[in-house]
Amino acid sequence: MRLLVCGGAGFIGSTFVRLRVRDHGDDVTVLDKLTYAGRRENLQDVESDIRFVHGAIEDPVAVADAIGDAEAIVNFAAETHVDRSISGPEEFIVTNMQGTHVLLEAARERGLRYLQVSTDEVYGSIEEGSFTESSPLAPSSPYSATKTGADLLVSSYFHTYGLETLICRGSNNYGPHQYPEKLIPLMILNALAGDHLPVYGDGRNVRNWLFVEDFGRGIGHALAHGVPGEVYNCGGPDECDNLTVVRKIIELTGRDESLIEFVTDRPGHDRRYSLSSAKLEALGWRAQVRFEDGLARTVDWYRENDWWWEPIRSGAYREYYERHYGRALNA
Ligand code: NAD
Ligand code: TYD
Repeated sequence: MRLLVCGGAGFIGSTFVRLRVRDHGDDVTVLDKLTYAGRRENLQDVESDIRFVHGAIEDPVAVADAIGDAEAIVNFAAETHVDRSISGPEEFIVTNMQGTHVLLEAARERGLRYLQVSTDEVYGSIEEGSFTESSPLAPSSPYSATKTGADLLVSSYFHTYGLETLICRGSNNYGPHQYPEKLIPLMILNALAGDHLPVYGDGRNVRNWLFVEDFGRGIGHALAHGVPGEVYNCGGPDECDNLTVVRKIIELTGRDESLIEFVTDRPGHDRRYSLSSAKLEALGWRAQVRFEDGLARTVDWYRENDWWWEPIRSGAYREYYERHYGRALNA
């Protein structure tokens, strides 16, 4: 298949590109703005198999240049970190909403299939049970609100223009190449460095952990077998609260619990996410990686790939970290 993958230099997008090139022999063009979270390094092992276009999804000229003879657009491009959306929502509106609109227009003009990569956070928090695709949308952060706005726009293009749209909503991903502002890579790198482990609130918020390759396969499955106009949830096989995640990382890195530091809670912090994936499973997808195994693989990857994270930990990330946590790394 000929694919335009937007945001393909990020964590999940680059994993998806690798899977498509290696397992499906797809012809892939990546369009990516290369924000702080997008890195050519994430694609270095498939660099010679793909075409890379540096540009923004909110720029119709860049989109037209990248689109070529693509048969489908898969959109990963987004501002993705909840904490950054709280301190500065503007970029989230431009990329997540305006950018999605530009891509939908490009797909409509050319009659392309369009898959929007979305998140369980559009449903908000759930105390018990799991969200299905028909659960009400109740986002609580500027990040999830802009992702919800984008999803609604995508659905409107199906209903209004008959565009072949699909939406695939994943639960919390983890795995290699994840930028260390997110819980798991942040805790792994801090633990390896013997740095503090900042747990928000009481640490009892629950997330439904999905290994990134499982999400990549789920998105590919929805793209190939999904029914246009439909939404597919793609949730991980295991749920775990943050404190338990941090304790597992402490064990895997040989550290002790004295590194844990409870810090001020995130405003509007969602308590629990949980997705039912029955609809995608009925199409033949299954999560293959249990949390225990995936977490151990992830810790090993970060331990063995300091070439990947050293430039991040010694660059602008330090300023972000100091601003957000009120203390320096390795202080
Ligand atoms: P990421 O932050 O690692 O990567 C985002 C990528 O998008 C980067 O390469 C960045 O350069 C690019 N980008 C940002 N703004 C752009 C723009 N305006 N134009 C073009 N490219 C732009 O994110 P991720 O974790 O890989 O998430 C990818 C997608 O999956 C997002 O849409 C996110 O909402 C969704 N998602 C993420 C998770 C998760 O746990 N990380 C879970 C479910 C869904
Ligand atoms: P995060 O990785 O930001 O993903 P999301 O908020 O999109 O689920 O956070 C996962 C959980 O970890 C969330 O409950 C917030 C918590 N958390 C901490 O306790 N400390 C941290 O330093 C970070 C980044 C997150």
